[in-house]
Amino acid sequence: MSKRNYWKGINIITDTAWGDSGKGKIVDLAAQNVDMVIRYNGGGNAGHTVKNEHGVFKNHLMPSGIYNSNALCILTGGVVIDPFMLVGEILDHKEKGIKISPRNLLISQDAHLVMPWHKKRDGLKEKARGGSKIGTTGQGIGPTYSDRRNREGIRIRDLLRPDFEKIFEREFVYQKKLIDLMGGKQLTSDFNKKEILNKLLEAKEILAPLIANVLPIIWKYQEEGRNILGEGAQGALLDLELGGYPYVTSSHPGVAGFSLSTGIQHKNVKKVIGVTKAYTTRVGEGPMPTELLNETGEHIQKKGGEFGATTGRPRRCGWLDVPAVKYGIRITGVDSIALMKLDVLDELKEVKICVGYKVGRQQFKDLPTADPEVMEKAKPIYITFPGWQKDTTGAKSLKELPRNAQKYVAAAEKLLDTPIEMISISPEREATIFVI
Ligand code: IMP
Repeated sequence: MSKRNYWKGINIITDTAWGDSGKGKIVDLAAQNVDMVIRYNGGGNAGHTVKNEHGVFKNHLMPSGIYNSNALCILTGGVVIDPFMLVGEILDHKEKGIKISPRNLLISQDAHLVMPWHKKRDGLKEKARGGSKIGTTGQGIGPTYSDRRNREGIRIRDLLRPDFEKIFEREFVYQKKLIDLMGGKQLTSDFNKKEILNKLLEAKEILAPLIANVLPIIWKYQEEGRNILGEGAQGALLDLELGGYPYVTSSHPGVAGFSLSTGIQHKNVKKVIGVTKAYTTRVGEGPMPTELLNETGEHIQKKGGEFGATTGRPRRCGWLDVPAVKYGIRITGVDSIALMKLDVLDELKEVKICVGYKVGRQQFKDLPTADPEVMEKAKPIYITFPGWQKDTTGAKSLKELPRNAQKYVAAAEKLLDTPIEMISISPEREATIFVI
């Protein structure tokens, strides 16, 4: 199958576990063959790394399709936007020679703005939670989505209103009161109203031409049968509804999140591609049954560069957790897998896959829930495979991978009960084996 055919129609790229699997790379690769890339959830908490002919980018808000000048990238109303962060990313891309205009980037008028007070509220809440903190990225994600649910806050379309300054004033007073109530009284002096307003008005100069009602544009592309790609952020197990609540984010990383903010329904989506690392990582709090608190875990962390793209926090590393990933596959509607970072395991003498959990006297092959109370008690059951101890990075096909690596991939595919259609063995776009 040609690459263009593979990406034909409406496809979604999402993560099957706790995020950070390398979605940025796969979206950048896919974007060469599509007409529209839609980022549909999350905000500045995401960090999508892309390495291509333009350089290395760690995008938080910029859709990873922006490097195909023929693709129209969209930030939907499901994304929460820190306007200063987005402007920073737009200017950075322009500096690196990537043109940004309404021809290749549009922002839904319905997106909520993440303001400095949301970040403050995020931090205050985490502090108040003490030992049971979530370990958020501190990017104001929860408070902004709560405001949206409460029908409060500022939407990006408000920037364009002639009475914006009044809206801002009202919001500023309200948010200050809220923070005072949270016991952060002394902290509200951090907010300089005039300074924030002026910065917003400056940001408006850059953002205004990009703000639009994106729905009719998305639907026109859909009606014309053009190739549309959904770019999810975070991962299945961080889903607000079906993830490991409360150690989750406040949005929906899978096909449900895509449908919610585009109005394109699941039945119209051709394929959901679940990006899955050859091992498992997690950043922030919450149980992670296969976490390796030993030299192997450190080796994976170092070789895989497993440090948060947004916070720089070290990511917890462990063996591929099949029950967790299978649960993620189910709740995000995944049809096929892109297996990432296989090369990170190259040097290991042996590699393991978790095929089930023991919870007290019970054994689970399939996870009935992502409930942290269950997962905290889960003891992984492993299958051990001999390592390949050979460099995989130059391989161009499955056959060119060392035998033991091929066996590992085949076992992962069987255990996950989902076809592995891509294998990534290095950050570059080209270092991707298609198994289709
Ligand atoms: P929040 O999204 O900042 O509220 O963080 C909630 C939880 O989701 C924390 O455990 C974060 O570490 C995690 N999280 C949020 N965004 C990402 C991401 O892009 N990758 C991995 N973990 C994330």
